[in-house]
Amino acid sequence: MDTLINTNTKAHDEKRQGEAFAPFVADKNEYRKLFYIESYGCAMNFADSEVVASILQQHGYGATLNFESADLIFVNTCSIREKAEATVSKRLTEFRKLKKSNPGLLVGVLGCMAERLKEKFIEQERLVDLVVGPDAYRSLPGLIEEAETGQKAVNVLLSRDETYADIAPVRLNSNGVNAFVSIMRGCNNMCSFCVVPFTRGRERSRDADSIIKECTSLFEDGYKEVTLLGQNVDSYHWVATQNFGQNEGYEKPVNFANLLEKVALISPLLRVRFSTSHPKDITDEVLFTIAKYDNICNYIHLPVQSGSSRILQLMNRTYTREWYIAKVNRIREILPDAGLSTDMITGFCTETEEDHQQSLSLMEYCKYDLAYMYFYSQRPGTLAARRFEDDVPEDIKKRRLQEMVNLHRKNTLQSMQRDVGKTCRVLVEGFSKKTPDELQGRNDQNKVVVFPKQNFKKGEYVFIKITACTAGTLIGTAVDI
Ligand code: SAM
Ligand code: SF4
Ligand code: F3S
Repeated sequence: MDTLINTNTKAHDEKRQGEAFAPFVADKNEYRKLFYIESYGCAMNFADSEVVASILQQHGYGATLNFESADLIFVNTCSIREKAEATVSKRLTEFRKLKKSNPGLLVGVLGCMAERLKEKFIEQERLVDLVVGPDAYRSLPGLIEEAETGQKAVNVLLSRDETYADIAPVRLNSNGVNAFVSIMRGCNNMCSFCVVPFTRGRERSRDADSIIKECTSLFEDGYKEVTLLGQNVDSYHWVATQNFGQNEGYEKPVNFANLLEKVALISPLLRVRFSTSHPKDITDEVLFTIAKYDNICNYIHLPVQSGSSRILQLMNRTYTREWYIAKVNRIREILPDAGLSTDMITGFCTETEEDHQQSLSLMEYCKYDLAYMYFYSQRPGTLAARRFEDDVPEDIKKRRLQEMVNLHRKNTLQSMQRDVGKTCRVLVEGFSKKTPDELQGRNDQNKVVVFPKQNFKKGEYVFIKITACTAGTLIGTAVDI
């Protein structure tokens, strides 16, 4: 994962923006139709595309990586910032043009933009043939048949209980080492800047047993790392009812700490990551669980959004600067070596230079290993859009973002330099970007480590002594421990 961002998009998202995935290139003769799917946005959206692929494959559709040979093109979309939506709109127009040479082609918009802009997509006669929200993917096969008759097929109903728990995602374009596992959907927090509660609906947790089953089967298939996904994983809550015959039984709630432990116990060789933690919900129990198991990564993504208590209140984040700092101190106390990362927004409504300086000083205090930084993008319908004026001019938002990026660059380089001389355990994910003579993986703190290949392979754990670094990468050589 990248460490530095100087645009309004998450670096790791940006690299993956618009990625098309297919487990294989299907033979057209074996399937009723071929589909192509392109994904934008957060990891949860990419995980959803794997659910979509599974549903489509079960109904006789085969995946292709080549949109020109596809009968169905799906774009799984993101609404988080205006720029994300603009990119997708352009892409949909491009796909629409393919209809001239392939009149039977159907184009579908999935995900958060489908949910947010449903009316627009329904009204814009010819732009798309299917509009399907994040909770309606089970209805895709029926909707495709409806669209084949020439009608626009739409399902944007949000659900209170859909978690796709029983669907085994088809791992698209996987490296066979890391996999995302959704543990919950939706969000009940109402951060005033954020569109997610509107596009993804109410928070709901997935059946714990189905999560353990999915992680176990990934491990049996050779995967070595799972990332448990949710907008707010620390509020995971599942009540399992266990029955022992007539009238006997008890309810056993599973919280996030319990779930982490259950996944960690699948095998010490299965690494467990998770994202995202809301500072208000992460508990000591979770921190102690991370400390207890070597295979739960020592890394917490703890988005703060701003360093000013006044702005945090306007953002409805429900904590103050001081409260957040106390939480970071507690993390450092229980997990002294933990990697820490954050999300930050510059130029939120009414943000002054003083508020901005408080964000910078908070970053200086927390010394994040990784930060995703954005300038504020007003989203229609959100609390902030309804209540506050988007009054910080764009050039000031961007200048503040650049200052933040510069500060973070300095801090992250120092964080990397502190690791030089240390030895860490790295899970090998594949070749380095530069040369096939080197491998690349990540350590416990989620830092990218590059080292000479020797005879090591993807999926192996290797101890690496760090000898040098850049702001984004640790460089080292394998050692025996
Ligand atoms: N659920 C996570 C949390 O509570 O932090 C993250 C959700 S969101 C998908 C990822 C990040 O996008 C947020 O943490 C925030 O920094 C950023 N973001 C969300 N809405 C935004 C907006 N309107 N303008 C700029 N950045 C935004
Ligand atoms: Fe958006 Fe806040 Fe929910 Fe995160 S916790 S998804 S920022 S509303
Ligand atoms: Fe984007 Fe939806 Fe994720 S708005 S960030 S794809 S939840």
